[in-house]
Amino acid sequence: MNFTLKVWRQGGPDTAGRFETYQAKDIQGEMSFLEMLDVVNEDLITGGHEPIDFDSDCREGICGMCSLVVNGIPHGGQKGTTVCQLHMRSFEDGQTITIEPWRAKAFPVLKDLVVDRTAFDRVIQSGGYISVNTGGAPDANATPIAKIDADYAFDAATCIGCGACVAACKNSSAMLFVGAKVTHLNVLPQGHPERFTRAVNMVEAMDSEGFGACTVTGACAAVCPKEIPLDVISKLNKDYALGVLKGVGV
Ligand code: SF4
Ligand code: FES
Repeated sequence: MNFTLKVWRQGGPDTAGRFETYQAKDIQGEMSFLEMLDVVNEDLITGGHEPIDFDSDCREGICGMCSLVVNGIPHGGQKGTTVCQLHMRSFEDGQTITIEPWRAKAFPVLKDLVVDRTAFDRVIQSGGYISVNTGGAPDANATPIAKIDADYAFDAATCIGCGACVAACKNSSAMLFVGAKVTHLNVLPQGHPERFTRAVNMVEAMDSEGFGACTVTGACAAVCPKEIPLDVISKLNKDYALGVLKGVGV
């Protein structure tokens, strides 16, 4: 398979970017999207050109590092899939593919397709922890948790912090990410002591990092590779409002 790539190249955070056109030749359909970029980079390096910078680590949908907008859709638009799990067989031979970085004020471009997502780390630091001693496995097994709550916590905990939800949102809101992080702790008894301070502090941290407000368009959930549902935002809003009424938080 052969493809024409229009790739965003940018030298650094303070320099102007532009699209450059490259040819991806002799690509196998079984290759992942990132392996296709590896082939293009090998050609660039062989030709004495600077390779395209992009992020990746696990390349199996776990780490959340890969962060490419493919043809206008974060992670490329295949349901429940990170861009590292996207295979070239899902594209048409000869197709033109546009590749951009996440675009959000809180995720400045570092170089080419690599963005700085440390804003998410600071939001997590503001409340993504518990303070109680949970003991060992026998103690955990002795703490009764309703199945519905356990399932909900596990589902919310699948968020990999990739940031696609922010990239898809017209407001660059991080509410789906924060909702997932708050919910997976708040629905469990171990997370209850900080339930309201966690919600208030993480929303305040999100705001101070420059993420926008949620207007419930649902674009975030549509692109989320872990299919985090929109109702984590409802749960976050409820705990945030109760926290503000109680006067807790920063
Ligand atoms: S909520 Fe989904 S899209 Fe947002 S950071 Fe988590 S896994 Fe990525
Ligand atoms: S590289 Fe780890 S999720 Fe894509």
